[in-house]
Amino acid sequence: MKVAIVLGTRPEVIKMAPVVRELARRNTDFFILHTGQHYSYNLDGVFFEQLELPQPKHNLDVGSGSHAEETGKMLVGVEKALLEEKPDIVLVEGDTNSVLAGALAAAKLHIKVGHVEAGLRSYDRSMPEEINRVLTDHLSDYLFAPTEIAKELLLGEGIPERKIFITGNTIVDAVYQNLEIANSKAKALEKLGLHPKEYFLVTVHRQENVDDRGRFGGILKGLKRLSEVFGMRVIYPIHPRSTKRMKEFGFQWDGIELTDPLDFLGFLHLEANARLVLTDSGGVQEESCILGVPCITVRDNTERPETLEVGANILAGTIPEKILECSEIMLGRENNWRNPFGDGKAGERIVSIITGGH
Ligand code: UD1
Ligand code: UDP
Repeated sequence: MKVAIVLGTRPEVIKMAPVVRELARRNTDFFILHTGQHYSYNLDGVFFEQLELPQPKHNLDVGSGSHAEETGKMLVGVEKALLEEKPDIVLVEGDTNSVLAGALAAAKLHIKVGHVEAGLRSYDRSMPEEINRVLTDHLSDYLFAPTEIAKELLLGEGIPERKIFITGNTIVDAVYQNLEIANSKAKALEKLGLHPKEYFLVTVHRQENVDDRGRFGGILKGLKRLSEVFGMRVIYPIHPRSTKRMKEFGFQWDGIELTDPLDFLGFLHLEANARLVLTDSGGVQEESCILGVPCITVRDNTERPETLEVGANILAGTIPEKILECSEIMLGRENNWRNPFGDGKAGERIVSIITGGH
């Protein structure tokens, strides 16, 4: 059996790493096809190095562009590489443009598609990620649902039960495999002069937030208010999309400490020791829940309802006073919730299923 892993962005590299590790451990024939959607070293190369992943056999170097430009270029490149390699199955992870392009190109070539992290829904079609995940799920032959909720949702959309496998989310594997190393080796706290539980950690980069002046401005105001009211340092490793918009909109960020995007071990170390996490990231909502750190999601919806159900997360939207109010609630909350995303063996399960060993 020959497996193609198609990926293109930071979260895909991180969440596919446990699957890649397991494929390598079992000496399965596989290769990585990188679309090149992310290309800056701190969004891409650093994760291959730190997670000790094999270099991609193909890199399409599509770079940035509009949705159609990115996805169109990827479709052409992925198809060409798949025709040359003739894999038996293509695995994709998550909800980015790279995921949709990988799944669509493969399905049209009658190559089996496995979708890792299937069955997530925000029911908000204004998010590009929602369109990508709905289409990818319906193109897939193997749907690796992280939770029972995700499985039920897929069944509700008419996807046959035989295609759906509850595996847990590979982010748990990634956290378990790296947390100890992060806490013993990462110097992120030291470098920034931070003390455990005495700072708030922020990531905000989603298109629907940072491309919208009103929403991004509201979030930044909210963060500034948090630093004033709670006297905490607010650390924001900033994604290049957000940096670009901040400059375009002429925003000030007093009260907020910006850093370049961090490597995975450094980020995990900061996240595990933060007093609160404020984010619009999917992966960060999950990780903070796994790490027992309260999370405030600066969005109006989430495709990770499990985090809300166990009490690890709260939806604040982007209005400053609401962000403040939600932060107060989460600061008062006990962090003894259970991790709803599995036991850290999702990668093993996925590889067993595709290789027929389950
Ligand atoms: C993409 C995903 C999003 C995911 C995020 C992970 C889609 C539709 N969006 O958003 O779901 O949460 O990745 O981080 O697929 N840029 C760089 N260097 C890079 C890549 C991008 O500077 O290596 C800058 C460019 O200015 C680019 C902008 O970031 O225009 C946006 O990049 P893009 O890949 O289109 O979307 P993301 O916001 O990264
Ligand atoms: N992350 C990182 N460095 C950072 C910010 C985030 O390594 O500076 C990691 C984080 O640990 C998580 C992943 O990036 O595993 C989340 O990716 P992102 O927020 O870019 O995308 P999303 O999950 O929203 O699709």
